[in-house]
Amino acid sequence: MTDLGCLDTQVLWHPFTQMAEWDPLVIAAGDGNYLIDFAGRRYLDGVSSLWCNVHGHRHPRLDRALRDQLDRIAHSTFLGLTHEPAIRLGAALLEVSPPGLRRVFYSDSGATAVEIALKQSFQYWQLRGVPDKQRFLRLDEAYHGDTLGAVGVGGIALFHRIFGPLLVRSIAIQSPAGSDGSASLAALERELAAHAGQIAAFVVEPLIQGAAGMLVHPHGFLARAAELCRRHAVHLIVDEVATGFGRTGTLFACEQESVAPDFLCLAKGISGGYLALAATLTTEEIYAAFLGASHELKQFFHGHTYTANPLACAVGVESLALLRESTLANARARMPSFAAALDRIAAIPGVAAIRRCGLMAGIELAPRPPRHLGNEVCARVRAHGVILRPLGDVIVWMPPLTIQSEDIALLEGATAAAIRETLA
Ligand SMILES: Cc1ncc(COP(=O)(O)O)c(C=O)c1O
Repeated sequence: MTDLGCLDTQVLWHPFTQMAEWDPLVIAAGDGNYLIDFAGRRYLDGVSSLWCNVHGHRHPRLDRALRDQLDRIAHSTFLGLTHEPAIRLGAALLEVSPPGLRRVFYSDSGATAVEIALKQSFQYWQLRGVPDKQRFLRLDEAYHGDTLGAVGVGGIALFHRIFGPLLVRSIAIQSPAGSDGSASLAALERELAAHAGQIAAFVVEPLIQGAAGMLVHPHGFLARAAELCRRHAVHLIVDEVATGFGRTGTLFACEQESVAPDFLCLAKGISGGYLALAATLTTEEIYAAFLGASHELKQFFHGHTYTANPLACAVGVESLALLRESTLANARARMPSFAAALDRIAAIPGVAAIRRCGLMAGIELAPRPPRHLGNEVCARVRAHGVILRPLGDVIVWMPPLTIQSEDIALLEGATAAAIRETLA
């Protein structure tokens, strides 16, 4: 182990990691779609540094945007002040987001983007004189982040069960994944018909539930769920933290079903994967409910120190421009070969299922308890020059949207080799 790796094991505690088994790989640099360790070994960043990298690492235009902003100021508060990068990014986001969204509230992670939507929805109904609307609907195996509010609308037992006593409880609707969605829609309609007066919002990951293991929804589910929410005067909160910024083949997944949510939660790819930034977008109608004289205390009492960090916003403006100019087109062009590579992986004995939406995919391995095959495959794949991270027995493929044909060939070859070695 390198000296730095050794020091890491002595002083740090990593997220979602059993530290007793921790074996650090210290990253020294990035180059396009690749990560480089201290020994100079290159690895394809097969999960986009946890689903956030969009245009590869050290993109010259993003680096320049960051440096230019650094020459002005790194940070000033967004409480009582404003600045150009946040204003420009807000306007640019509204220009490309689903119709009806008119206001941008910044924060710094996917979890906070969702918490803000939950709190704004709740406060909206209080301000509008509908105080009983206090509960939230969500899907089975939903994932919206790790802070307590977001965990309250989460449904992944492995991550969330232990925190049950601490949570604001939500109502689960069965996930439509792997079905035609009619049973889920019927359950949603039943819940809305019976309890809409107590329900503030339905929160959903559109098209695909990422952390649950890349569970793909049937086409039409989102649009029909949106229609039911509207009919019953319940807000629709769409969490595009994972799906946003081109990942599913359109800028936002919502577009594929022409859905205009009441809240859109964005993070991860919003800064191209460079810096911590998130945004909760909402409608003018919801925003207007919070207006009044200060002493009426209608304002939204929520904020974070680094809200709308200027460096992150400046990179976000450039990242969105790049996406629209070229990166989204590249992602779309790569989808057929990405899908074909997955089809070949599906033929490997021991692979139970493949699920994909755009450049987001899960390779499910048939379980072999007590072994954790996902961890084993991801440990072995490094020797083949790829970094992956599993979700249980599901191997995730989520490369940067700048991925090229040769990168897909490497991803496929390395994954196939690691699966075969693990199952041998
Ligand atoms: C759909 C979804 N929502 C929220 C989050 C949480 O984002 P963050 O880790 O930035 O808090 C994630 C993270 O994977 C996610 O996939």
